[in-house]
Amino acid sequence: MFLYTPQDEKDQGMTEHEMSLILFGHFAFQSVWAGIEIGLFDLLAKSPGSSIEAICDQLSLAPQPAEIIVNSLVAMKLLEEREGAFHNTPFAEKSLVRGAPNDLTDVMAFQQHIVYPALIDLADSLQQNRNVGVRHFPGNEPTVYARLGNDPKLESFFQNGMAAMHANRFLADSLDLGTTRHLVDMGGGAGRNAIALAKGYPNLEITIFDSATVCERATQKVEAAGLSDRVHVWPGSFFSDPFPSDIDGILFAHIGPIWSMDENQHLFRRALAALPQGGKLFLYNMVTSDDGFGPLMALFGSSYFQAIATGTGKVYPAAAYREGLLGVGFKEVTVTTAPVAHAVITATK
Ligand SMILES: C[S@@+](CC[C@H](N)C(=O)[O-])C[C@H]1O[C@@H](n2cnc3c(N)ncnc32)[C@H](O)[C@@H]1O
Repeated sequence: MFLYTPQDEKDQGMTEHEMSLILFGHFAFQSVWAGIEIGLFDLLAKSPGSSIEAICDQLSLAPQPAEIIVNSLVAMKLLEEREGAFHNTPFAEKSLVRGAPNDLTDVMAFQQHIVYPALIDLADSLQQNRNVGVRHFPGNEPTVYARLGNDPKLESFFQNGMAAMHANRFLADSLDLGTTRHLVDMGGGAGRNAIALAKGYPNLEITIFDSATVCERATQKVEAAGLSDRVHVWPGSFFSDPFPSDIDGILFAHIGPIWSMDENQHLFRRALAALPQGGKLFLYNMVTSDDGFGPLMALFGSSYFQAIATGTGKVYPAAAYREGLLGVGFKEVTVTTAPVAHAVITATK
């Protein structure tokens, strides 16, 4: 984005252009968010070629604020102006319009309502080695997940954001559940993954293990999908409450990075005890490279777990899970890569 002409500054590390993206990154994010929230991208999807007067009229905006947001989004290549008529660019049309094929609006809402306000505490969280940012969520519980249960609106932003996570589109194709009969989806959220897996495996029974408020959301989604006969909920904490019985598979999707490796191993031990001989454990997580220096998205994820979510987790390399599973007694631990810097780790009791 396009604030300075890029200079040839390779020997200085970061370029001035790259620094400008960071210096003004909050304006960039908030401008896109504002375009979503006031309905500008949705309006231009419905009425492409709207004039600035029509935009003012449809979105109840005064002329000057309308010009401010529209011109910024044109400069950011998300809108185009042709002879006084405004259009979404192809990228905005497919990603920033609700219901579009690559709809990012719920992921943006998660960033806006959960991450953005709390990440201002990153420096304090590093110095105090705890998630200082959890103070932005109502309650006294130590993790953001427990506190979300105190605020249904925030919990909606969180769960809708998780369901829309790009990586979840690849989960069903990345796991081989061919020999599994009854799977527990640990921290399964509002059911997005369980529903996709139940559709992909017509004989599979799935139980979603999550907090009581999240299980209520899952029940509604599962009912709406017509899958209540095979997808059930199990409210509680996977750290301390009993696991469902008569299971032969356990999935932890996007749970590993939330916790320290000691906490992960506590969960692996509980899983080992709950599975029958030959039962399978599946982990589906974003991972770093083996040297830990990338990808950048994964490293930013670590800052989220440190500063906001729990203060104990981070995004690990796949090898750390492998060692953690072997260390508690799982066998045949295999690692395969999945899209969006993810890995599937499968282990057998
Ligand atoms: C990062 S989300 C992952 C959701 C889903 N598995 C996915 O892949 O999109 C973490 C989930 O774990 C749940 N969770 C956190 N702590 C938990 C606990 N102690 N017991 C059960 N669920 C928990 C949260 O409520 C949330 O739904």
